[in-house]
Amino acid sequence: MRINGHVVWVSLMLGAAVLTLQGWSGAQVTGYQEQQQMGMTSHIGNLTGTAEKGAKAYRRFCVGCHGAFGDGEGENAQWIDPKPRNFTLGVFKCRSTPTGTLPLDSDLFNTVGRGIVNSNMPRWFPLTDQDRADLVAYVKHFSPRFATEKPGAPIQIPPEPKLTPERVKAGQEVFNRVQCWKCHGVEGRANGPSADTLTDDLGRPIRPFNFHDSTRFKCGETDQDLYRIFMTGLDGTPMPSFSDNIKPDEAWNLVFYLRSLQPMASPERAMAEQLGLKPVNPNAPAPQNNK
Ligand code: HEC
Ligand code: HEC
Repeated sequence: MRINGHVVWVSLMLGAAVLTLQGWSGAQVTGYQEQQQMGMTSHIGNLTGTAEKGAKAYRRFCVGCHGAFGDGEGENAQWIDPKPRNFTLGVFKCRSTPTGTLPLDSDLFNTVGRGIVNSNMPRWFPLTDQDRADLVAYVKHFSPRFATEKPGAPIQIPPEPKLTPERVKAGQEVFNRVQCWKCHGVEGRANGPSADTLTDDLGRPIRPFNFHDSTRFKCGETDQDLYRIFMTGLDGTPMPSFSDNIKPDEAWNLVFYLRSLQPMASPERAMAEQLGLKPVNPNAPAPQNNK
C-alpha cells in the first residue's frame, strides 16, 4: 500500500518537475490524469455510478475536506483530526475485504451513507443512492489502484451463534490471547502499553478506540460490522487484521465480549456483570482450557 503511495508520489513529483521546467499550470497534468480515469464506474446492486456524473456532487460536498485532487488536502483539512482520507492511495479503513486489498464498491457506498462516527466525515442524508454511486466512482477515479487491481473477496461471516455467558467469558480469553489489550487496554479504555506510541501509515499520531466511549464504530454498528472490523483490520492504521489468529467461532465470542465493554445496557454487559468478569490480567498463567 505504502509502496503504491510512493509510486503515486514520485509520479506527482516528476509531473511537478516537468511543469516547473515548462512553466505550465498544475491543473493541466492533473486534468490529463483525471481524464484518463474519468471512465471509472461503480456497481452497487442494480445501480451503476459514473465518475463523470459524480464530479459535480464531489465539488459541491466533498472538496472542502478531500481536496480537488482527492489528496485529502481540502481547505478545511488543517482544522480536522483525524485527517480526511487521501483517495490517491486507494487505502480504506472500512472494508469487507481482506487487509491490503481494495474495498468493494458497496463498502465505499455504505461509508458515504453512514458517515464516520468520531470524525468530521458527515452522514450524507441529502444524497440519493444514485448520487452516492456516482460519488463512489469519482472517489475511485483518484487512485490508479482501481484501474489495475480488483477488490479482494469479501470475508465470510458465519451466522451469529446464540449468546451465552460462556461465550462472553471465552471472548475475553481471546481478547487476552491475541493481545488486543496492548493497544486498547485491559478494560478496553484505549490505554494499553502501546497506546501512546501509535501512528498511522502517514506518520500521524492515532489513538486506539475506547470501547466505553462509543456505542457505534467508524465502520458500522451491527454485530456483523464489529466482527468485520477486527477480521479485516483498518488499513492505513495500526489496527491489524486478526483473520489469521482468530477462528470464526472465537471471533463471535470476541464480539460478545467487546459488547460487554460498551456503555449501553446490553445482555452481554449484564452477563459480564453476573459473571463478575475482571479486566484481563496479561501476567496471569494461561487458563488450562485456553483454545
Ligand atoms: C467535513 C469534512 C469532510 C467532508 C465534507 C467529507 N469528508 Fe469524507 N472523510 C472525512 C474524514 C475526516 C475522513 C477520515 C475519517 C477517519 O479516518 O476516521 C473521511 C473519510 C472518507 C472516506 C474513507 C472511508 C474509509 O473506509 O477509509 C470516504 C470514502 C469518504 N470520506 C468519502 C467522502 C465523500 C464522497 C464526501 C462528499 C459527499 C466526503 N467524504 C465529504 C471528512 C470529510
Ligand atoms: C497495535 C495496536 C492495536 C491492536 C493490537 C488492536 N487494535 Fe483495535 N484499534 C487500534 C487503533 C489505533 C484503532 C483506531 C483506528 C482509527 O481510529 O481509525 C483501533 C480501532 C478498533 C476498533 C474500532 C474501529 C471503528 O470502526 O471505529 C475496534 C472494534 C477494534 N480496534 C478492535 C480490536 C480488537 C478486537 C483487537 C484484538 C483482536 C484489536 N482491536 C487490537 C489499534 C489496535
